[in-house]
Amino acid sequence: MFAPNLLEGRVALVTGGGTGICRGIALAFAAHGCDVAITSRTMEHLEPTVAELRATGRRAIAKAADVRDPAAVTDVVNATVAELGRLDILVNGAAGNFICLAENLSPNGFGTVVDIDLKGTFHVSKAALPHLRAHGGSVVNISATLPYLGTMGQSHAAAAKAGIDSLTRTLACEWGPYGIRVNGIAPGPIEGTEGVRRLTNEQSRESAIRGNPLGRMGTIDDIANASLFLCSEAASFVNGVTLVVDGGLWLRSARILGD
Ligand code: COA
Repeated sequence: MFAPNLLEGRVALVTGGGTGICRGIALAFAAHGCDVAITSRTMEHLEPTVAELRATGRRAIAKAADVRDPAAVTDVVNATVAELGRLDILVNGAAGNFICLAENLSPNGFGTVVDIDLKGTFHVSKAALPHLRAHGGSVVNISATLPYLGTMGQSHAAAAKAGIDSLTRTLACEWGPYGIRVNGIAPGPIEGTEGVRRLTNEQSRESAIRGNPLGRMGTIDDIANASLFLCSEAASFVNGVTLVVDGGLWLRSARILGD
């Protein structure tokens, strides 16, 4: 679908890059000539993926950090530049979620998801800014379609993702003059991910397929391809958008979480 080596000579940092969608993004970037740093809370999640990344022939590093800790993410960004030479692309994918109705959710439960998803996106973006600003670059924030409708059991995650979409638009305006494009991707349910395992059951997965205009679940490759587009020259005039990659599911129905 894409010409080879769309990201030749670039260096990317992918948060949450050890598993799921973000592992797929990291591997797609490496397949297109990009050196890649990945981070998540535990090395256990990162080690198999960094080995896969190196097996593609690209340089790759893995550093454990919690995106809730601004000092820790600054260390990861600095290590990326020290070991891989520069930073051109940031993918903010680290996220946490669970289903819980607002009436049962504790203040700390709500705050934890906002801290990881929204504040984590801010912390890593801010840490990356001086390096991206040196020569221009691209940021992709992984969002969700949850806030477009009143998705029950997701008050915490929907609020956090709506905040991310707002941050995407603001940073696109503030950082565009530095040659940094800031965009987002809102995936629908993606098969084979922890998100789908945590948030859906067999019945809701069937209804997500039946209700989808394209008649299937999303794949990790669908999101990796969208990320490649947004980070490549093919999207050089795309700034401040959150690209929905869900086959049109949210336009048809909010009923994807089990009711
Ligand atoms: N239902 C209701 N509340 C929950 C919950 C659930 N299923 N899971 C956690 N919480 C609450 C906890 O009770 C706690 O609040 P409290 O102190 O008032 O009791 C708060 O959330 C923090 O939980 P804790 O387990 O201490 O946080 P953590 O930082 O270790 O974990 C999470 C973060 C909660 C997001 C956890 O689910 C996680 O680590 N997820 C990572 C992977 C992931 O979610 N991937 C899916 C992406 S779609």
